[in-house]
Amino acid sequence: GAAGAAGLIAGGAGAVAADRVSRDTDSTALTSIGTTSVAFAGEARAHGTPQAGITTANQTHGHLIAFDLAPGTDRKATAALLRRWTEAAREMSDGRAPDQDSSGIALDAGPSSLTVTMGFGRTFFDKVGLKDKLPQALSPLPDFSSDALDRKRSDGDLWLQLGADDGLVAFHALRTLQRLAGDAARTRWYMAGFNRTPGATTEPRTTRNLMGQIDGTNNPKPEEEDFDTRIFVPKGGDDSSPEWMAGGSYAVVRRIRMLLDSWDNLSLAQQERVIGRRKSDGAPLSGGTETTPVDLNKFAADGSIAIRGDAHVRVAAPESNQGAAMLRRPFSYHDGFSDDGTPDAGLLFIAWQADPMKGFVPVQRKLDRGDGLSRFLRHEASGLFAVPAAAGDGEYVGQRLLE
Ligand code: HEM
Repeated sequence: GAAGAAGLIAGGAGAVAADRVSRDTDSTALTSIGTTSVAFAGEARAHGTPQAGITTANQTHGHLIAFDLAPGTDRKATAALLRRWTEAAREMSDGRAPDQDSSGIALDAGPSSLTVTMGFGRTFFDKVGLKDKLPQALSPLPDFSSDALDRKRSDGDLWLQLGADDGLVAFHALRTLQRLAGDAARTRWYMAGFNRTPGATTEPRTTRNLMGQIDGTNNPKPEEEDFDTRIFVPKGGDDSSPEWMAGGSYAVVRRIRMLLDSWDNLSLAQQERVIGRRKSDGAPLSGGTETTPVDLNKFAADGSIAIRGDAHVRVAAPESNQGAAMLRRPFSYHDGFSDDGTPDAGLLFIAWQADPMKGFVPVQRKLDRGDGLSRFLRHEASGLFAVPAAAGDGEYVGQRLLE
């Protein structure tokens, strides 16, 4: 338990490590990982109260699961399912076992920053007779030339994103919700992912991905003035979203395989030029530190451009895409090795935005044409989900849609 881990720090790595943990304001003291909870009710923002799991710090363990409604599940049965899920998620996020849970999987564990985020796919609306409430923003994503999508692991009527800083807490929530689906919905696909564990690093910086890069630096920040407009649907809805989506967001989910064997054949300098940032500390190749703004017009002393024309950060930047922006909140994944020995590993890329046509779609179109990183990636699965605002007291998630 926590005492054992703390003992290891004190007795094993020595006083230096223990001191670093206590000084690091961004990471969590070992004993508080379990007790930390994230309110299922969400936190109020300018456009409403989004569900937890969007602006929440990335947790260590992630589960993504999509369901299709079973034949015969009507609107009423769907509302009942969402109420069961909401009530269980609310209890578990507070660190309580839901009613009738005898599994014991999370016994003696705290909430461990558990979040449960619920979304609706395009195919949901017709099945429950709500076609008139289908957001235009849920229009199918276009095909991209680098796609190699497995349709069986794509899309789905309903989508859950679970995150927690403890593996048993995360699995318990997953199992509980999957069981509560009962006869109403069937699992369509499932994916597991991970991030760094709080306390694993003394450096309070952005997480790394499986290519080793610091990833997430130039994400829109919740304190920025245009953050809410970029990420959340405004009050009353807009041209691409009906009113029931006010305060909500759209999740683009892409399982992106990293071709790590080819990538690892590049030299460090080549890898850094492909991204446009240094691997060690994430600083842009135009100079400065991780947080220094990227200077796309900077030339090196030898007259060469500091950030190459096909560098990922140049091609993906809002400046190159008429301001298009999204909040990237991914999990890494590793599902073993293919027969030829290559790792089945990469990024469960999750991008949040108020409208995919002003976020993921134009940026991915651009990346598809001219991104140096694309040669080392393969998009293997895809989904797009409407994630409404959080449920208020006594409400269930999606109530404004279903009633
Ligand atoms: C930036 C890696 C896929 C959009 C970055 C950075 C890294 C990175 C290392 C620089 C640090 C940062 O600002 O976060 C990756 C990897 C990918 C991937 C490994 C796939 C496995 C994508 C996709 C999109 C995207 C599919 C969108 C369609 C962006 C954006 C930025 C960025 C918007 C910030 C650019 C800026 O304003 O400086 N990515 N990326 N990335 N990436 Fe990716």
